Amino acid sequence: MDPFALFTEDASLLEAVEEIRELKRQKNAVILSHYYMAPELQITDADGGIADFVGDSLGLSVAAKKTGAENIIFCGVKFMAETAKILNPEKRVLLPSFEAGCSLAESITASDVRQLKALHPEVPVVAYINTYAETKAEADICCTSRNAMDIARSFPGNKLIFLPDVFMGRNLQAKIAAETGKELILWEGRCEVHEQFTPQRINGLKLVHPDAQVLVHWEVPDDTVLEAMKGSGGIVGSTSDIIRFVGESSSRKFILGSECDLGATLRGMYPENEFVVPCIKCPHMKQITVQRTLQALRAIGTEEERVFEVNLEADILQRALLPIERMLEFS
Ligand code: 13P
Ligand code: SF4
Repeated sequence: MDPFALFTEDASLLEAVEEIRELKRQKNAVILSHYYMAPELQITDADGGIADFVGDSLGLSVAAKKTGAENIIFCGVKFMAETAKILNPEKRVLLPSFEAGCSLAESITASDVRQLKALHPEVPVVAYINTYAETKAEADICCTSRNAMDIARSFPGNKLIFLPDVFMGRNLQAKIAAETGKELILWEGRCEVHEQFTPQRINGLKLVHPDAQVLVHWEVPDDTVLEAMKGSGGIVGSTSDIIRFVGESSSRKFILGSECDLGATLRGMYPENEFVVPCIKCPHMKQITVQRTLQALRAIGTEEERVFEVNLEADILQRALLPIERMLEFS
């Protein structure tokens, strides 16, 4: 991405970026930024921007575990910042807006998981990383979209509880049942962004762009994968799988069934390609802005830091760590 073009269009943005870069050094802070952030939050420090690391949810968890900085500013959503805190209980983790939720994380509670476990005793529980810390604390292992298949395969029995994304669960089930006959017990959660990539929407785009390959996230409806992927030569996968696939494909045109700003990321990475992107933005991810990131950084070491700081009970911090650490063995 060209930071110069983005920042020079807006003088207040340029000023904020400069202050953030300075404060990061003064306050020993790193900024971790997800691929669904607005483009100005994805420009790296090395390129004149503010992000020390840009990645998918697995990459960000690994980066959070590795950082030596005292303070982590998480440009992502709450469940991601909580994961960083669980991995770094002694560090300060700040989220620029606690309005940054997630429809999947909100669809299930720890008590729901306990009830599922009572209904299916002895069946291992795989919790998608898009869950809150209390939910993770009830799981045997976590997974992200990047390692879900490997993790599901790794369990020896013939049943698994996978929660909370019903579409991702059905998409995984279709693949894993064909390979191993394993049955997944699912929850009814949905990503409010990816559920909108219906077969009709993708098929309509394929009619206009018959030469494009279709790229969809695991969280899209299973009907979309079954009907709309046919003949496109594209991929259903995680955010990183999608990025890698484009780099390796001989096609020059792609239809993206994922968050709008991943389209901007792909255009920045592969300017020679054409991306057709129905612009559906995650309202939670968009709560994070450059100005709010600046406020969080300014607050470090002041009374106001409590507004931004991720705090979890000691018992939850401890119980949620094991499933996350088990997940990181698959990174
Ligand atoms: P990734 O694990 O691919 O980063 O996905 C995060 C997410 O929120 C998808 O909607
Ligand atoms: Fe949650 Fe979907 Fe937003 Fe990802 S894109 S944070 S799954 S609502």
